Amino acid sequence: MDPIIKLTLLLLFFRIACASTVEKNFEHCETVVKNWASSALHQGINKDKHTLQDLLFFLHVPRTGGRSYYHCFLKKLYPSSQECPRSYDKLRFDPRKEKCRLLATHDDYSMMEKLPKERTSVVTIVRNPVDRVFSSYEFSVEVAARFLVHPDLASATKMSKRLRAKKAGVSTLDIWPWKYLVPWMRADLFARRHARRQKGSSEDKIDSPYDMKDILMPLQEFIDDPIVHDIVHNGATFQIAGLTNNSYLDESHEIRHCVREYKSLGQHVLRVAKMRLDAMLYVGLTAEHKESATMFANVVGSQVISQLRDANFSTGTLADNQSGNSSSLHLDSELESNVDQNNSTLDEKALQDEDEAKRKNMTVTELIEVYEGCISSLLKTQSRRRFASLKRISPANFSKEARRHVSDAVLQEIRTLNYLDVDLFKYAQEIFAMRHVQLMGNLDMKDGSESKLDRARAFELWRIPLLVMLFILLLVLFLLANARRRVSKVKV
Ligand SMILES: *[C@@H]1O[C@H](CO)[C@@H](O)[C@H](O)[C@H]1NC(C)=O
Ligand SMILES: *[C@@H]1O[C@H](CO)[C@@H](O)[C@H](O)[C@H]1NC(C)=O
Ligand SMILES: *[C@@H]1O[C@H](CO)[C@@H](O)[C@H](O)[C@H]1NC(C)=O
Ligand SMILES: *[C@@H]1O[C@H](CO)[C@@H](O)[C@H](O)[C@H]1NC(C)=O
Ligand SMILES: *[C@@H]1O[C@H](CO)[C@@H](O)[C@H](O)[C@H]1NC(C)=O
Ligand SMILES: *[C@@H]1O[C@H](CO)[C@@H](O)[C@H](O)[C@H]1NC(C)=O
Ligand SMILES: *[C@@H]1O[C@H](CO)[C@@H](O)[C@H](O)[C@H]1NC(C)=O
Ligand SMILES: *[C@@H]1O[C@H](CO)[C@@H](O)[C@H](O)[C@H]1NC(C)=O
Repeated sequence: MDPIIKLTLLLLFFRIACASTVEKNFEHCETVVKNWASSALHQGINKDKHTLQDLLFFLHVPRTGGRSYYHCFLKKLYPSSQECPRSYDKLRFDPRKEKCRLLATHDDYSMMEKLPKERTSVVTIVRNPVDRVFSSYEFSVEVAARFLVHPDLASATKMSKRLRAKKAGVSTLDIWPWKYLVPWMRADLFARRHARRQKGSSEDKIDSPYDMKDILMPLQEFIDDPIVHDIVHNGATFQIAGLTNNSYLDESHEIRHCVREYKSLGQHVLRVAKMRLDAMLYVGLTAEHKESATMFANVVGSQVISQLRDANFSTGTLADNQSGNSSSLHLDSELESNVDQNNSTLDEKALQDEDEAKRKNMTVTELIEVYEGCISSLLKTQSRRRFASLKRISPANFSKEARRHVSDAVLQEIRTLNYLDVDLFKYAQEIFAMRHVQLMGNLDMKDGSESKLDRARAFELWRIPLLVMLFILLLVLFLLANARRRVSKVKV
């Protein structure tokens, strides 16, 4: 045979073979994803989503502002003796502590397999995916930049290992997803610093902080990296679906890869995530912080308070046994918030007793006041730490203003990469709007029928000036028109 024909035939064969493997892969992926989705959709979820169950699972999607809820609501509501051990920990959930009532973690929904499903309420916060990607980038850089005090990467790594071994608590570097993002970013920062020093200082122009490749990884490079594809993009959808890189579910990794390969399969994942959002006790929105916090206090806070009051969770018994091991006490300083770490260990017991008495007596209004005070000091601490850390990569500095100069192309790319989260965020907004209206209605009812009548009457009264104004407006228009006609008549 003519070698050219041979070659052509070979090529043809190869192409067909390739096409059929692609098809096979897709079929396989479709089966895997669909099977998972249908079993997830048929899984029973508690019947009454409006009532707080025995265990509150705070499914904390990274960079949604969940930490302030944890510190300023949940820690004020639950005594640490009732917190499930190793929240946020790489060591993961310890089912031995059966009596725990609060679990706050970056673990994904697959955690539910380990929890008593019917007795668990889930809450979460959702954020605009573009903001979440920006924040993930900035936070990775911020934490990594803290290590730049060290002369080189080797000593930074050694030092942080030693510190973590000595400390009883949990470090950001132990917590998913930072345990992957921060060391990666840290190595990158050191490499760039090294290259800069080799080259000699050539501080030319000050670019956008999102594109200063002499100093730090540009945003564009970040969003295109495989690590970020795996653990940041569509992160909220995957976390609520229980399919993150950190999942307990064995097939999660295959499903996730299938969805990345074949975008259309993402719809199945989205459906599961939406159903789960629907069934949650509470869904907050990062950007609507005030309304979200009010709703949290009224929906979750009020139920926790009455639960504590009803079921004598005695100060003595549980706390005595387990206060020593509550990892979350040590978590704070490393989880970049650091709320009075020093003396929390001194009079722990006494403080706990006192707190507990306060907790049982708290009203929702008081809870909101406590929250607001706590939040403002938390934000101050956070911005202090951020300042100290970003100083090390000066003149790069992140700000809202600088974000505005990021090109539309990059923003569009982030939206495209996060197509599932964009959809889920819209859905969360709808849920939030609906429940907000419901809550306001309920609060009105609680105010009593009298105030409701007042409000109705106020609304009626409000309409009167409106009608009057409309009438005046019409009158003026009429007069004007008349006047003009008269003027024109005079002219003629
Ligand atoms: C999760 O992602 C990190 C970073 O890409 C990777 O090193 C790790 O192996 C992944 N884990 C799994 C289970 O895929
Ligand atoms: C709470 O404790 C009091 C006395 O300590 C007891 O009389 C009451 O029955 C307890 N209530 C519940 C719900 O256990
Ligand atoms: C406290 O620990 C003791 C043993 O150390 C155990 O017998 C007791 O049941 C524990 N109490 C609670 C409330 O867990
Ligand atoms: C506290 O933690 C240590 C080690 O982490 C463990 O050996 C010990 O049993 C724990 N104590 C309690 C009361 O859980
Ligand atoms: C905590 O203690 C350390 C030394 O033990 C001290 O340097 C630091 O200022 C203290 N922080 C606060 C808030 O008191
Ligand atoms: C704990 O620290 C605060 C200030 O950070 C201080 O006002 C308070 O007196 C301290 N409490 C104890 C028990 O040391
Ligand atoms: C709860 O509040 C009431 C009135 O505000 C007060 O009399 C009571 O002592 C408080 N109880 C506790 C345990 O603080
Ligand atoms: C970064 O910019 C903010 C204003 O956006 C400013 O307050 C802060 O001091 C700057 N930080 C550094 C390290 O220059």
